[in-house]
Amino acid sequence: MGLLDGQRAVVTGGASGIGAATARRMHEEGASIAIVDIDDAAGVAIAASVDGRAFTADVSDPDACAAAINAAAEALGGMSILFNNAGVGAARPLHEYSDRAWAKLIGVNLAGTFHGIRAAVPLMRESGGCIVNHASVSGVRPTRFEGPYSAAKAGVISLTMDAALEYAPAIRVNCVSPGLIETPLTAGVLGDESLRAAVDAATPMARVGSADDVANAVVFLASPLASYITGHNLVVDGGSYLPNAQADAILRQFGM
Ligand SMILES: NC(=O)c1ccc[n+]([C@@H]2O[C@H](COP(=O)([O-])OP(=O)(O)OC[C@H]3O[C@@H](n4cnc5c(N)ncnc54)[C@H](O)[C@@H]3O)[C@@H](O)[C@H]2O)c1
Repeated sequence: MGLLDGQRAVVTGGASGIGAATARRMHEEGASIAIVDIDDAAGVAIAASVDGRAFTADVSDPDACAAAINAAAEALGGMSILFNNAGVGAARPLHEYSDRAWAKLIGVNLAGTFHGIRAAVPLMRESGGCIVNHASVSGVRPTRFEGPYSAAKAGVISLTMDAALEYAPAIRVNCVSPGLIETPLTAGVLGDESLRAAVDAATPMARVGSADDVANAVVFLASPLASYITGHNLVVDGGSYLPNAQADAILRQFGM
């Protein structure tokens, strides 16, 4: 028996990285899967690998996002799980972001999450369901040069708590906040061996996270094991945001 037997799951951004890993893990746990992604060909390929369906949409476009989620729910015969995962990143000094880059980072990461919730609520309110949003440790505390991304992800955490309050008990709403995870989004940084070694050394769990590390957390939150958990932000970062640089520097002075 799977943790998600009989569930009908829609995964936005499911064509790559953590979304693809989550689609696969949810399928292994018994859920039927639909993928909504801007990348048509990759979405079709990942959907085929999990006996699922693929729908193409830019989640930052309100009408396209709603139409794709509604079509996905219709194809699945309903929707009981939504993983609002589609996201994009960027890194540069705050004053160098153009209006266009700002609009994209907020539009995909934050507005895209809102569009997903708005489409899902009418589909889940009667039958019940669960939404998992994708935030980031950058939303818990900002990462230098990721100003708009960090602000968008902080917004996702806030939106998660609001939606949890508004839609309980019918719909549970939680989010995950990963640290640095190995996916196409981070391939540039992690492809550099010395940088990767530095990341491993700075992570209490002594390694970079995998897409499956996050997928497992999402499956947990979407499953009956988490039936009394709503409004929670589950950090999945190998402990990377715990170290306190000032205290650690003092302790090192004392050889500790
Ligand atoms: N990789 C990390 O270190 C990390 C850390 C924290 C949070 N996250 C979050 O995880 C989520 C997935 O990231 P990933 O690392 O798997 O990246 P990824 O680039 O491998 O996958 C992102 C997916 O989202 C899709 N997508 C992008 N823009 C879209 C849009 N406008 N509409 C629909 N689909 C769109 C892409 O086509 C792709 O399939 C994102 O929300 C990201 O912010 C990632």
